[in-house]
Amino acid sequence: MLGEIQDLKAEALRELAEIGQEPQLEDWRVTYLGKKGALTRVVRGIGALPPADRPAAGAVINDVKEALQTAFEDKRLALREAALRLSLQHEQIDITLPGRPVELGRRHPTTQILDEIFAALVPMGFQIVEGPEVEWDYYNFQALNIPEDHPARDMWDTLWITPEGEHGRRPMLLRTHTSPMQVRTMEKTKPPVRVIVPGKVYRYEAIDPSHESMFYQVEGLAVDEGITLADLKGTLYELAKRLFGEERRVRFRVDYFPFVEPGVEMAIDCFACRGTGCRLCKGTGWIEILGAGMVHPNVLRGVGYDPDRYSGFAFGLGPERIAMLKYGIDDIRLFYANDLRFLRQFP
Ligand code: DAH
Repeated sequence: MLGEIQDLKAEALRELAEIGQEPQLEDWRVTYLGKKGALTRVVRGIGALPPADRPAAGAVINDVKEALQTAFEDKRLALREAALRLSLQHEQIDITLPGRPVELGRRHPTTQILDEIFAALVPMGFQIVEGPEVEWDYYNFQALNIPEDHPARDMWDTLWITPEGEHGRRPMLLRTHTSPMQVRTMEKTKPPVRVIVPGKVYRYEAIDPSHESMFYQVEGLAVDEGITLADLKGTLYELAKRLFGEERRVRFRVDYFPFVEPGVEMAIDCFACRGTGCRLCKGTGWIEILGAGMVHPNVLRGVGYDPDRYSGFAFGLGPERIAMLKYGIDDIRLFYANDLRFLRQFP
């Protein structure tokens, strides 16, 4: 029997030496060391020996078992190391190759102008709020002192969501300006109110270098006791200087917007020719940059503010227009065409 064991050991080790891959190694383990393997069969044979020989035979079997187990573990380690070496060779990284350049993102020119506007007005106590782009006729027009069939509606070419003037339904549209947020804000708060509202607005436009169907606006609103046109002028003067330089001068002229009285337009002196007249200012020396005015008493009344006690100013401006003037951009369509050659020019 002892001879049989030694033969078994020799054969097992020979087979083991030939194994080159892990799955075969597992087969080997099952064949020799498994529960129903060769070694187990030998152990069963012990019962046939005379009792006196059994301990010695058991000891030999144990030695062989241990030897085979150790050989198995060694082989397994060796196979794994070999596999690792191989994969390292195959997947070698060439550290001399140049790296892939990391592309730096940058802020969109509209975002840059918005940030400048915020930087001018937030320190004065204006809070930034946002509102819905899909809006009711009520907020976009009626509550802003523009009733149905009012001719001033023609100032905004409107994209309607529900058919215009359809009976029995509340007409819905894409907001044509950010002014509806004046009403939404005042409905929800008591004076004092000081907000700026950035956001997208939509127009039913024939698209050309100076008209887009989507662009941004920033609305401003300040309402409290004793607010006057002087507050409007002081605030917007600071904004103009922030956007176009400390040396700027501003001009206010009467203009018409239904939701303010009086309504004004603000212009800055032309920064290209310093007022002498050039192509940018069309020879006038002045460039209009925003609309504004004192909130109309009808608007205040509509949100439950007493116009005898409270007054306020509002303004609206287009950041793309500001950017076009500042950076000499001659086509508003460039802003949302996603052409990187354009966008990369704004550091
Ligand atoms: N909402 C106006 C427009 O889109 C701009 C505007 C003018 C806003 C005067 C105002 C304002 O708040 O007082 O044409």
